[in-house]
Amino acid sequence: MKLLEIKELLQAKVLWGEEFLDIDVSNACGADLMSDILADNKFNAILLTGLTHRQIIQTTVMGDFAAIVFVRGKVPPEDVIELAKAEKLPLLTTSFPLYESCGILYKAGLGQDRVNGEASDRSSRGDSESPEAMRLTYDIVGNDFNSAGKAAEQAKRVLKQIGIDSGVIRKVSVAAYEAEMNIVIHAYKGKLIFSITPRYIELIAEDEGPGIPDIEKAMQEGYSTAPDRIRELGFGAGMGLPNMKKFSDFFEIDSELGKGTKVRMVINL
Ligand SMILES: Nc1ncnc2c1ncn2[C@@H]1O[C@H](COP(=O)(O)OP(=O)(O)O)[C@@H](O)[C@H]1O
Ligand SMILES: [Mg+2]
Repeated sequence: MKLLEIKELLQAKVLWGEEFLDIDVSNACGADLMSDILADNKFNAILLTGLTHRQIIQTTVMGDFAAIVFVRGKVPPEDVIELAKAEKLPLLTTSFPLYESCGILYKAGLGQDRVNGEASDRSSRGDSESPEAMRLTYDIVGNDFNSAGKAAEQAKRVLKQIGIDSGVIRKVSVAAYEAEMNIVIHAYKGKLIFSITPRYIELIAEDEGPGIPDIEKAMQEGYSTAPDRIRELGFGAGMGLPNMKKFSDFFEIDSELGKGTKVRMVINL
């Protein structure tokens, strides 16, 4: 289905990106929680959401969505639209609520084709282009929501440039973004370190912070100590660590109270 058809079905207004209305869309995700959006593993999908703050753009880019449709008549602030332009991410707004918007698109056939998703033309890497082992390090500052997500975003750009498979990029990006947000939300400062080898990508998220008193509990889906102001942004769903584990082939976490936390993940190529 073309984005134009989605626009018409939802009687939506284009906030930015008229020139992208002929892109093909094969699925959709409707969610107001960042971790749910990131965990949604579909290709060529659009995002339907009521969240309009700047982190939604980063989350959408990390999750590889083709466009955002804001529901309930929401319109993001101008600086958020500017961010979307920089990412070439079309933005639409519909007055339908989330449930109805999803229903309209589902009924019209969007996302009912089970075979879609396999056909990703964005992946391909000849052996001759095999990347050399390389390391990327990014500093993360706690509580800095203006820069939050930038490290994962930059790393993703590098992975694309060196021709890493798009499915791998997706996993690394989601894991990195969740890890970065955990440092921003729960710690004082930290680092994301990517080591890219010909066979796997290792991602270490290391911070100075309060540490985690009970790792088993922290790993449980839905467990979160994030305060209300964080939850209002769509974070704090308690799905970050479970998502990181889900998207990694190897996952380990170490934490020392009063010192900090280290998460190590490996994603095979
Ligand atoms: N780097 C960290 N430093 C301290 N605590 C953390 C860190 N990462 C996670 N936690 C703790 O583990 C909980 C679960 O983390 P996560 O699954 O990412 O959910 P969320 O971030 O949505 O709360 C957090 O609420 C927090 O209590
Ligand atoms: Mg988290």
